[in-house]
Order: sequence, then C-alpha cells, then structure tokens
Amino acid sequence: MTTTLITGGNAGIGKETARLLAAAGHTVYLGAREEARGRAAAEELGVRFVRLDVTDDASVAAALAELEAAGGLDVLINNAGIAIRTDTGEALDGPSVLAVFDTNAVGVIRVTEAALSLLRRSENPVVVNVSSALGSFWATHEPSRPAAHFPSIAYGSSKAAVSMITVQYAKAVPEVKFNAVEPGITATRLGGGDPGSHPGRPAEVSAKIVAELACLKADGPTGTFREDGGVLAW
Ligand SMILES: NC(=O)c1ccc[n+]([C@@H]2O[C@H](COP(=O)([O-])OP(=O)(O)OC[C@H]3O[C@@H](n4cnc5c(N)ncnc54)[C@H](OP(=O)(O)O)[C@@H]3O)[C@@H](O)[C@H]2O)c1
Repeated sequence: MTTTLITGGNAGIGKETARLLAAAGHTVYLGAREEARGRAAAEELGVRFVRLDVTDDASVAAALAELEAAGGLDVLINNAGIAIRTDTGEALDGPSVLAVFDTNAVGVIRVTEAALSLLRRSENPVVVNVSSALGSFWATHEPSRPAAHFPSIAYGSSKAAVSMITVQYAKAVPEVKFNAVEPGITATRLGGGDPGSHPGRPAEVSAKIVAELACLKADGPTGTFREDGGVLAW
C-alpha cells in the first residue's frame, strides 16, 4: 500500500492529482491550510484530510506526526503554490515576494525536511515538486514556449528555486527520488480570482503528469524536470 501526501490538495491540480492517485489505489492524505476547504475536498474524493500550512513549521510538524502515527509516508507531492498577479494590480514588494518564496520554495524544504525520516523508511520513497516552465532558464529563453513571453518576476524566480531545490535534494538524498514537474498551463485560481480564472487546460488533464511522477517505480529517475512531452530543460 502506498501512502501519499499532497500539499495544497483542496483545489486545482493538487485536488485532481489526489483524485487520480486515490483511483490508482494510493492512501491519499489531502493537505490543506484551511480546514473547511480541505475537509470538503477530501470528503468529495473519499480521501483523508490533514491540516497543513506549508508556511507554518508547527502545522507541518503536526501533519507529519499524524502521518507517522497512521503508519508512514511513501510519496510526497509538494504542490501548494501562490502567485502575484501584477497584471491585475497586485504589488510586487518585500512582503508579497517573501510570501511567494515562503510558500513556493521555502515551503518545499519545510515539508520535505519534516517528511524525510518517514520517506527513508519507505521501500520506494518518491518526492514530486510542482515547479513551472516559468522557472526554467531554457523555456524562458525559447521563443516557441509561452514562458518566454510571460514576465513573472516573483513566481518565476521562486519556481527556479523549486527546480534547484529538486536537484540539490536528488544529490543530497539519493535514497529518495526527487523530480520536478511542469504541469502545463492550467485553468485554476492560481494568482487569485475564481476557480478556473487562470487561463489554460483543465486541472484533471495537468494532474496526469503529476500523478505519473508520483507513481515512479524503484528504478525510476531522480533529479529530473519533466512535463507531458518528457524531460524539460532546466
Ligand atoms: N495553473 C497553472 O497554470 C500552473 C502552471 C505551472 C505550475 N503550477 C503550479 O501548480 C501548483 C498548484 O497550483 P494550481 O494551479 O492548482 O493553483 P490553485 O488552484 O490556486 O491551487 C493552489 C493550492 O495551494 C494551496 N496553498 C496556497 N498556499 C498554501 C499554504 N501556505 N499551505 C498549504 N496550501 C497552500 C491552495 O490552498 P487555498 O485554497 O487555501 O488557497 C490551493 O489548494 C502550484 O505549485 C502552481 O505554482 C500551476
């Protein structure tokens, strides 16, 4: 039995990944920072809810303690993320950028560090970090890619950090597979607004590549960045 924790699982790509992995037979813990939203999503999907705010050390520690008491963890999906929408007038300033980095990059390390002792006890430990093509130095310089035409100072640089965090963990912890994923441009509420207000394809489509990386076998890759089409250049 594979036990999987998804951060930011109450909406968007995280929720659809939870749905796919539950259907694949994983015991899914849907992490959410807000209890009512998290419980509602978990009930809808028939998975377990755990309260988890990736910016709060105590919340992260409590969530991982709950998983330890319930039997452990095999797969961690660091999915929670936020973006600043400067196009709709949101400020790009110290506090807003710190919040983006705290959630998107520091949050990945915070949750991973808390989960490592449990992951090391698993027979096939896997971590999937949900990054973005906006954090790829290659894609942001490749005219055929949307990322080359969408300035994203805080979010893009926070996702570049997620990618390097993935590389560094893959080197530092070779007994756990760490891969980063670009899920594709997806109609979620990333950056605020209503569900689906962000342009893109349905979350259930983007969730497939995230779920695929969560289901890597023991001989699967580590330290890679992937999207639907295969490996994505850093
Ligand atoms: N949408 C795209 O086009 C796209 C493209 C590339 C990568 N991504 C990445 O995909 C991931 C999922 O985003 P999405 O598009 O599905 O957006 P979304 O619908 O806004 O989902 C984001 C999730 O993260 C949660 N979250 C935010 N801050 C959190 C915190 N401090 N602790 C725990 N959970 C927190 C949100 O919870 P609340 O409901 O409480 O806010 C929500 O469940 C993100 O990492 C995003 O950067 C998205």
